[in-house]
Amino acid sequence: MDKILILDFGSQTTQLIGRRIRDMGVYTEIVPGDAPLSGGLLEDGADRVRGIILSGSPESVYEAGAAPDKAIYECGLPLLGICYGLQRMNYDLGGLVEPLPRREYGRVGVTVTGFEPAGGGSGPSGGSGGPGEAVRRFLEGFPSGSGENGTPGSRYFTSWMSHGDTLTRLASGFRQYGQSDNGYPAVVIHESRPWFGLQFHPEVTHCEGGLEILRAFVFGVCGALAAWTMERYVEELRASLTARVGDNPALLLISGGVDSTVAGALLLKALPVDQVHLMYMDTGLMRKDETETVRRALEKLGARHLHIVYCQEEFLSALQGLTEPEAKRKVIGDLFITIQEREVRALGLPDSYFLAQGTLYTDLIESGKGVGKKAHLIKSHHNVGTPLVDAKRKAGRILEPLDRLYKDEVRRLGALLGVEGEVLRRHPFPGPGLAVRILGEVTAEKCNILREADAIFIEELKSRRSPETGNCFYDDIWQAFAVLLPIRSVGVAGDVRKYGWVLALRAITSADGMTADVYPFPTGDLLEISTRITNLVKDIGRVTYDISSKPPATIEWE
Ligand code: XMP
Repeated sequence: MDKILILDFGSQTTQLIGRRIRDMGVYTEIVPGDAPLSGGLLEDGADRVRGIILSGSPESVYEAGAAPDKAIYECGLPLLGICYGLQRMNYDLGGLVEPLPRREYGRVGVTVTGFEPAGGGSGPSGGSGGPGEAVRRFLEGFPSGSGENGTPGSRYFTSWMSHGDTLTRLASGFRQYGQSDNGYPAVVIHESRPWFGLQFHPEVTHCEGGLEILRAFVFGVCGALAAWTMERYVEELRASLTARVGDNPALLLISGGVDSTVAGALLLKALPVDQVHLMYMDTGLMRKDETETVRRALEKLGARHLHIVYCQEEFLSALQGLTEPEAKRKVIGDLFITIQEREVRALGLPDSYFLAQGTLYTDLIESGKGVGKKAHLIKSHHNVGTPLVDAKRKAGRILEPLDRLYKDEVRRLGALLGVEGEVLRRHPFPGPGLAVRILGEVTAEKCNILREADAIFIEELKSRRSPETGNCFYDDIWQAFAVLLPIRSVGVAGDVRKYGWVLALRAITSADGMTADVYPFPTGDLLEISTRITNLVKDIGRVTYDISSKPPATIEWE
């Protein structure tokens, strides 16, 4: 399969480059900017690298910025430098890069030249003596955007930029094809090598025509074939899993979330079902009917060895008397490890078994820093770093079959493998479960109260539709849940004075959980949901709606 390799120098938007190109049907792989190219990066089995993109970076080339393996300039593949990537290429090849007196940031107009003047249309000139065929195909991707400046043979569009350095002298062989409104180089192309550079970010949606520019590089210049489909990927995963696992057992630790359920579905599809063991712990801190939902979903997928460990009593007694959030988390984390090891031992699997996890691509990427420096295992998940996982990793017996996929690709994969839509649409749920949604001491009684209230809230979100989008609220919301506060307040029920618990509802929209906005419910819906909760859950006397965004608040309350 053709792929585009992305060298990550740490820009916030590196992942976006990968996403955009995968959306075009071409497989992408992000590797650290300074990764050595020898050792298989360019010859990876059936995959064929068709081009290399050098990402942006928060650093400067003349300071701490990382440099790519010089072999990229010898390998003959097309290169596209974006922002720092362009500056890097220019600097490495003998040009000069210096700080700007004032950063170029946000929407900036760019004039691109090198097209045939009007009369011959405004297509790129490609005749003899003009730019080569690759240049012509690349320039074809540039939009004739809004605010045409009218210069014959040029196009004008609004780009999106974020840089404090600029090219002050072009390296030998580079020629400027585009200039920003501020007079700085914006598009630079080598005259004889397939090397292209953009000072702006075509991967950012604010960049007019950015997708087409990327397309022009991927298809026009690199000639990549769009062969990245989920069906094909499943076949490849299946073959590699079978080859790696052989006839050894594979044990997957299931949390009930989307990732681990899809990983389970994949193992069940790829390996003989009798080789697949799935283990799930019911800590008593789960949502209403969660364990049954997980059981049903996995059995439907063909699971034969599903080990559900019921350990509510152990968790609740360990949590007794604890009110500090960190103390609660520590007790839960430690107990999780103890029980997991005990139960895995009890399964009596041979030492040769493989341990599987639902780690995603984004879990491997430390936010904002890129895959680069922190190459493995950042999953914020209670399985991470447990002695069991560490030992298996050391022994080379960890399976992470989703580690090349983004979240929405995992959902697509799950749908293809027959995972229920209900499971795939589920909102994220934290490892410590309801313990971080019951402020103060966690008791069985409070877990039950919260479970009931939360279930009503979620049921209402699934049955009510947003007047704006027409979707049910649940699908428009990234995460919604109820929180039980450690306070009671006065109310009336009939003629009787009532002293009930206070419940907070939280609903947020987010792209990745790193930041979050409050979901703006129509007031009528909030009022009706609140009434239904206080009518049905007698211990709750008052309902509030959390209107804090993240930052400054976090999504969870503890
Ligand atoms: P916060 O509360 O930090 O949450 O804004 C961000 C996202 O992470 C989830 N979360 C957790 N997930 N173990 C997890 O597996 C945890 O300890 C944990 N704490 C928060 C939270 O639900 C939200 O999606």
